[in-house]
Amino acid sequence: MNTPDPAPVHPAWLPPEAFRAIGGRRTLVCGEGLLVQTVYDEVAQACARYGGTVTRQRVGAGTGGRAGASGGPYDLVLALGTGGPLPAGAAEVVAEAAGPGPDADGDELGPEGFALVRRHGVTVVLADEPAGLLYGLFEVVRLGAAAFGADRPARRHRPAMRLRLVSHWDNVDVHPRMGQVERGYAGGSIFWRDGAPRHDAERVRGYARLLAACGFNAMTVNNVNVHGTATRLLTDRLDDVAEIAELVRPYGIRVHLSVNFAAPVALGELPTADPLDGDVRAWWAKAARRLHETIPDLGGFMVKADSEGQPGPYRYGRSHADGANMLADALAPYGGVVHWRAFVYNHHQDWRDRSVDRARAAYDHFTPFDGQFRENVILQVKHGPMDFQVREPVSPVLAAMPRTRLAVEVQATQEYTGQQRHVCYLGPSWSEVLRFAPWGEDGPTVASVVAGTTGHGAPTPSTGGDLPAPAGGGIVVVSNVGDDHYWTGHPLAQANLYAVGRLGWAPDLDPVAVLDEWIELTFTPSATGDPELLRGTLHALLDDSWHTYERYTAPLGVGFMVRPNTHYGPDVDGYEYSRWGTYHFADRDGVGVDRTRATGTGFTGQYPQPWADRYESLERCPDELLLFFHHVPYQHVLQSGSTVIQHIYDSHFAGAEEVAGMARRWAGIAGSGLVDPALHARVTERLAEQLRSAEEWRDKINTYFLRKSGVPDAHDRPIY
Ligand code: GCU
Repeated sequence: MNTPDPAPVHPAWLPPEAFRAIGGRRTLVCGEGLLVQTVYDEVAQACARYGGTVTRQRVGAGTGGRAGASGGPYDLVLALGTGGPLPAGAAEVVAEAAGPGPDADGDELGPEGFALVRRHGVTVVLADEPAGLLYGLFEVVRLGAAAFGADRPARRHRPAMRLRLVSHWDNVDVHPRMGQVERGYAGGSIFWRDGAPRHDAERVRGYARLLAACGFNAMTVNNVNVHGTATRLLTDRLDDVAEIAELVRPYGIRVHLSVNFAAPVALGELPTADPLDGDVRAWWAKAARRLHETIPDLGGFMVKADSEGQPGPYRYGRSHADGANMLADALAPYGGVVHWRAFVYNHHQDWRDRSVDRARAAYDHFTPFDGQFRENVILQVKHGPMDFQVREPVSPVLAAMPRTRLAVEVQATQEYTGQQRHVCYLGPSWSEVLRFAPWGEDGPTVASVVAGTTGHGAPTPSTGGDLPAPAGGGIVVVSNVGDDHYWTGHPLAQANLYAVGRLGWAPDLDPVAVLDEWIELTFTPSATGDPELLRGTLHALLDDSWHTYERYTAPLGVGFMVRPNTHYGPDVDGYEYSRWGTYHFADRDGVGVDRTRATGTGFTGQYPQPWADRYESLERCPDELLLFFHHVPYQHVLQSGSTVIQHIYDSHFAGAEEVAGMARRWAGIAGSGLVDPALHARVTERLAEQLRSAEEWRDKINTYFLRKSGVPDAHDRPIY
């Protein structure tokens, strides 16, 4: 990709123009605290550009009241509820924002919530704590001029999930195979280069600002695979982590650290990492103490243990509960949490052994320990049972551990979804996961499980009864950001990070409406020409791009079929006879994995009803997951009325054709002034590659299945 990049870094969804509505008005900021200062600074910066004014009112020393409470009039008041008397005019509006008290469901605004109201020409954001004021400011930014238009009744906003964490797979040292960022498609790391911190304060601060503006409140700064220097972040490289924590703190982002379970051994300090060994426990307790002395608000640890070669408690004959609880005990005095990943499976599987099913692994490993994890352990579960494929059923673990804090993990970095060379807006896919109701339509959703707002409803396999909800573990998002000029390599991939942040805050949001927010913030303010043409073009490219990607890659939920190692481009049998447990079992008669209880691996039995039976049934299993759950003949008729083989042909022709349409549509706004020419060029280059790749997928998949099945395409299109 040779387009010269203009400096400075692309502002993503916070271009200066997004602050125009605020920057031209009169604002009062009331309250104390680091994040209130951030709010003030943001508004002041906008006012310096657009000619407005901002007044800061602090709580008067000794009096408990606001110093200089007169003044105004104001167009916007951003106030902490604890801040004392307000100037005339604003006070009544604030009283309305404060409302009649807690909502009907008994919830207060909480540490991150805010109320927003507009009356008598004043827009008021009221929060109980500084973080709420910051999120309220960004809500006003999102509303733009509309925040200062017609009256708005008071409305409370609170994040659905308490923890909304971005997980960076950034390596400190350059890994010989994975490079500086594992599965990174946006250049180097914004934190690390060649084993050392980059000290790029502006970039890191800018990143924290973007994260806060879409709703995140935490991040890990290093890869879950902890090697080499990264192990030392915990000990003698602590200051490197502290430096990052310092930069992101003003935006309400807490730093978490990925740690090596065998760190005491890897650092040469102890002969064992056995979690029940007294010296090991003392070692971790000391490490946690030092960490919190240096970074008092450190969020906690993330651990990939006994997974893909990483060390873990199994090595010492101990359980995951033993391992996670040992770290949880070390962090407990400081309020830290352990994100313990459930991505545990046998990656040395024998493909000849049909009884082993990777999809079953997380459930089999973890559900026996439900109820045994400490309260500050969060079990971090990938959204599907395999590995971030374009289509997977929701992981049954999310419905099977009612006594455990659960987080759902999703992947913004597009490892299996086009690697930020393809447009693939994943908002709709994440939305489906979060809205999935494991116990049936009227039951709780995945979002409510990870938000901790449900007792999991119906009886579950492990308890047989209702339980009070454990605190939620929230959402974990594998980052798609690097040191690329556009942050995400593909400029349109920014939408994924924005959307998943918003969905963590409010899982009920419509992903297309979220996309619209992103478009409005990112592009519209600076566009010259017809903003509707721009909006229409971006929606045409992005709205259905997840389905488009699904159409031209592995069919009907069977997954993988990617080139081994890189995971880019088609290789139908690339993983078929391998140790990774990712098979499609295509032969001359049929394709798909039999995961039924009746004749297959029994995986369907890990789901509660109604899904256990729905997935088991050949007739009622959703088409898009058919080959995940069933091995069927090519002439099997789908619910859509098409046969499996004809569906494969049709969807692959359609998918590639849709990409050609996207490229034409994008070419249609070339030279229009609607987007920056360099950005236009970058997207054009990537669309060309997406089209090449989609056609390669189409031709290889279609040809493979024509040759296997011998069934011709009903429409006689070219297959090779
Ligand atoms: C995938 C990915 C790895 C990653 C792993 C994980 O398997 O290919 O690079 O380390 O997921 O989530 O830990």
